[in-house]
Amino acid sequence: MTLTVVGHGYVGLVSACVFADFGNEVYVIGRNKEKINRLKNGDPIIFEPGLKELLEKNLKAGRLHFTLDYQEAIPKSEIVFITVGTPPKNNGEADLSSVFEVAKNIAKNLSSHFTVVSCKSTVPVGTNKKVEEIIKKYAPKKAQFAVASCPEFLREGSAIADTLNADRIVIGSSSKKAIEILLKLHQPFSSKKIVTDLASAELIKYAANAILATKISFSNLIAFYCEKTGADVEKVLDAVGLDKRIGRIFMNPGVGYGGSCLPKDVLALIDTGKKLNIDTSLLKAVDKVNYQAKENFLQKILKNKQGKNTAILGLSFKPNTDDIRFAPSIFIIENLLKHGFKIKVFDPEAMGNIRKIFGEKIEYAKNPYEAAKNADQLIILTEWNEFKQIDLKKLKKILKKPVIFDGRNIYDPLLLKNLGFKYFSVGR
Ligand SMILES: NC(=O)c1ccc[n+]([C@@H]2O[C@H](COP(=O)([O-])OP(=O)(O)OC[C@H]3O[C@@H](n4cnc5c(N)ncnc54)[C@H](O)[C@@H]3O)[C@@H](O)[C@H]2O)c1
Repeated sequence: MTLTVVGHGYVGLVSACVFADFGNEVYVIGRNKEKINRLKNGDPIIFEPGLKELLEKNLKAGRLHFTLDYQEAIPKSEIVFITVGTPPKNNGEADLSSVFEVAKNIAKNLSSHFTVVSCKSTVPVGTNKKVEEIIKKYAPKKAQFAVASCPEFLREGSAIADTLNADRIVIGSSSKKAIEILLKLHQPFSSKKIVTDLASAELIKYAANAILATKISFSNLIAFYCEKTGADVEKVLDAVGLDKRIGRIFMNPGVGYGGSCLPKDVLALIDTGKKLNIDTSLLKAVDKVNYQAKENFLQKILKNKQGKNTAILGLSFKPNTDDIRFAPSIFIIENLLKHGFKIKVFDPEAMGNIRKIFGEKIEYAKNPYEAAKNADQLIILTEWNEFKQIDLKKLKKILKKPVIFDGRNIYDPLLLKNLGFKYFSVGR
């Protein structure tokens, strides 16, 4: 099949590469010449495990085409995926300006052969109806099209594997023909397919992210109880999670969730609820506890600090990505700087992105040990595997004071105590 993907971020580029790898002809439309040239030369721009290799392979096979020109791609395509960003506005509402702008550009280039315009971006329920109206308004009279919603569920850090082995593929549309075409595209994927109406498809995505965020905030709430009572949150959640109705997965107490999805999607769902006159107290509490988790961890550092020289390991919002959008590291660094801390950071992939925010206000190390050298305390904010297996004896020698604040509970408190560390984690 021939398809177009508009946007080449974590969702767009991964989807484009995977669909091309299945033998489809895939056009990717961007809006920045320099980035399009980098992509044409095999540079994925973002870091995602395996993505560079998949991009190079499909470029070489001639199945992937990067362009700025809608006219080059849209008239040839059976399906056009919209994968542009939907960031939060200041009031939490999803900013849909890119989605609508792209819909207009697609519309103007539609032809008389039937095209499915399918949104992969996470958009509030009702958005695709508006996309349909925009397309109707701007498309030429001869244009044949239908709108669909195919929300994306990939996780950064394992995006390719997630796309290949998704728990489910959701296809929402009122057009039988559009559903048939999208089912044909997804035929090689063994994942369960859920075919539904537009509104349900849009809401499925928000419902999924809201329950994931709830699991994390719930775990943090229980961690607060543990800290006040001497209970061990990991043991509590291990036992709770063994109940099959509950499950342990995603019950991760720590310094709170971040990233480009959970924070903004919870806020957008609250905003949609407000517009629909629904009481969103539950979702507001999820968001509030997430803030409290960061604040609680910050206060722990301020109360128990041994000096101003601080090493921070882990900046990305989770391991195996360079993405720092809404990462707890930003909150912690901003606040420690306000309190006069001197900070040296290390992250395997996210240093370039964090430098764009903090510039020369903090220092950047080449490895964890260089960050830790002579520091009064070390803070862990992302659970990268290489931190889990760090040489703790060497670390103790390098640090000025053997103090660790672990925002992700990656070490055994007893082991750290026996090694002579003063160790602060979450809910233990
Ligand atoms: N990142 C994830 O893990 C993930 C997972 C599931 C769903 N989503 C959703 O998918 C959407 C995209 O997320 P992402 O992380 O890939 O975003 P991203 O910021 O990494 O990429 C967005 C892309 O859209 C392009 N873009 C923005 N405005 C444009 C315009 N007007 N015209 C052309 N291109 C434009 C950008 O240049 C960029 O390539 C969001 O709605 C997000 O909520 C993201």
